[in-house]
Amino acid sequence: MEHPASGEENKLCRGQWRGIIVKYTLTKIWNLILHVKGGARVKGSVIKTEKLASLAPMAGAADSAFRQLCARFGAAFCTSEMVSAKALSLGDKKTPELLRHAQSERPFGAQIFGAEPETMASAASFICERFSPDFIDINMGCPAPKIVSGGAGSALMRSPALASDIVRAVCAASSVPVTVKMRAGWDSDTAAPFAAAMEEAGASRLTVHGRTRDEMYAPPVRYEAIAAAKRAVSIPVIGNGDIASPADALKMTELTRCDAVAVGRGALGDPALFERINAALRGEATPPAPTAKLSAELLREQAALAIEDKGIYRAMLELRKHAAWYVKGIPGAAKLRKRACEISSLEDLEAFIAQWLEL
Ligand SMILES: Cc1cc2nc3c(=O)[nH]c(=O)nc-3n(C[C@H](O)[C@H](O)[C@H](O)COP(=O)(O)O)c2cc1C
Repeated sequence: MEHPASGEENKLCRGQWRGIIVKYTLTKIWNLILHVKGGARVKGSVIKTEKLASLAPMAGAADSAFRQLCARFGAAFCTSEMVSAKALSLGDKKTPELLRHAQSERPFGAQIFGAEPETMASAASFICERFSPDFIDINMGCPAPKIVSGGAGSALMRSPALASDIVRAVCAASSVPVTVKMRAGWDSDTAAPFAAAMEEAGASRLTVHGRTRDEMYAPPVRYEAIAAAKRAVSIPVIGNGDIASPADALKMTELTRCDAVAVGRGALGDPALFERINAALRGEATPPAPTAKLSAELLREQAALAIEDKGIYRAMLELRKHAAWYVKGIPGAAKLRKRACEISSLEDLEAFIAQWLEL
């Protein structure tokens, strides 16, 4: 026979469960309404998504100077290079430098990586207070051995429960929406259940790179993995991988039904790509690609912005690879790339540009 007290307890449990289910259903409906209107609401935060191209985070490449140019040409938002939550928590002096950004980059997201919910949460709280980003992005896509060996980046796709704990902890510690950048999976496609788990944990938006960790960056992006993630959630999904032209962006949106796209390598050396892609996504005529003269002017500007941010020595050193990207694909690029590796001063940069424009 059932003890009366345990019956009461059961009733209470059933009542509590009913409350949770009602709250969950109402949140889902509310998210759906906002999603249809072009945004998603989680914990009081709304992320608006226009069908536009954003700049994908790229450590060692998409620094503030480059991001400012991309934003000027219409990148929907910019994200910092990934920063280590652990390094921040240990008071590393250099790590916060990666989070410096200009107002013109906004909406600006700070991307963190790590494998411990508490460390990730305290990093997010520190970043919100010190840098006031528009969102915090959690890196669950990096395939680099030194990142995944610590359980972070794409290794989190093997541990959805831990990944969910991280999202919950970061949401609780952040004053801004929390987003997730993920892959198709670790060694097989798990994007759909993983995306659903991230939404459930509180993520406001997902960027899905359509390759598994095993695939690194090599085989063509698989649109079906992104489409599966999109079907599994009601928050906005940004499709990422292999977008280097307006046609690529249209293909991504058509094949995956994603809400917007993120462009990485295709924008390197071509920040004006965002203007062309966004025109295509809006159904407008695509402006022409910049002439060599205009591209050279953009490279000069990028150099000036980088010098302002990092000082001449570091700026010039890091500009070498950007200079090479600006001339990729043009006849004579091999010779120019060699010259790019020798840039150490503004005079060297001008000599590089003169050689480029002579071609
Ligand atoms: C040099 C480089 C650095 C990258 N760094 C990051 C990073 O810090 N955080 C991140 O989430 N993804 C990073 N990625 C992955 C890109 O954001 C993007 O997902 C990937 O390059 C696929 O997009 P794409 O084909 O448009 O380049 C990096 C990629 C490259 C090539």
